[in-house]
Amino acid sequence: MNPEEQGREDSARDNSGLQDSGGEDSGSENSKRRAFLVKVNLGLGAFGALMLGAPVIGFLFAPLFRQIDRKWQSVGEVSKFAQGQTVEVEFDDASPLPWAGLSSKTAAWLQRKNETEFVAFSVTCSHLGCPVRWMADARLFLCPCHGGVYYSDGSVAGGPPPRGLTQYPVRINQGQVEILTSPTPIT
Ligand code: FES
Repeated sequence: MNPEEQGREDSARDNSGLQDSGGEDSGSENSKRRAFLVKVNLGLGAFGALMLGAPVIGFLFAPLFRQIDRKWQSVGEVSKFAQGQTVEVEFDDASPLPWAGLSSKTAAWLQRKNETEFVAFSVTCSHLGCPVRWMADARLFLCPCHGGVYYSDGSVAGGPPPRGLTQYPVRINQGQVEILTSPTPIT
C-alpha cells in the first residue's frame, strides 16, 4: 500500500469512528428526551386526574368534617303534655337550607313518660325516610311507604327498617320542654 492509499484509509477510519460516536450520543439523547416526555405526560395525567377528582372527593368527604348544627328548641310548656301520651311536635330544622321555606319545618314524636321524663323520636323512617305515624290504639309507629313498624320505644318491630327511630335528647328548661334538634337524619 502506497503512502497515499494509507492516508485515505486512515482518514476513512477516523471518519467512521466519528460517525459511530455521534450515533451513540444522539441515541442516548433520544432516550433521555423520551424519558423526559414520559415523565411530563405522567405528571400532566396525574394533574388532570387530580383536577377532575378533587370535587368528587370533596363532595364525598365534606360531611365528615362538617360541624353538625344542634340547638335546643322549645316545643311547648310541660303542662301541655299528658303523661303516657305520644304527640307530634313541630320545630324548625336545625340546619335549614336558605331556600327551604315551609320544608324547613320538621317534627318529632314526643312521649311523656312521667312527671319529669320525656322521650322524642324523629318522624323520619330509618328505611327510606318517609314520615312515620303514631297509632295510639296499637301503640306502634307505622311507616306507610313499605310497611315498616316500630314499637313505642322506637325499636324495629317489623318490615324493612334497618334500625330504630332516631332519638332526640329532651330536657325541661324553665317550664318548657326542649328538644336538642339536629339536621333531619338522612337514611
Ligand atoms: S320508608 Fe319506611 S318502610 Fe320504607
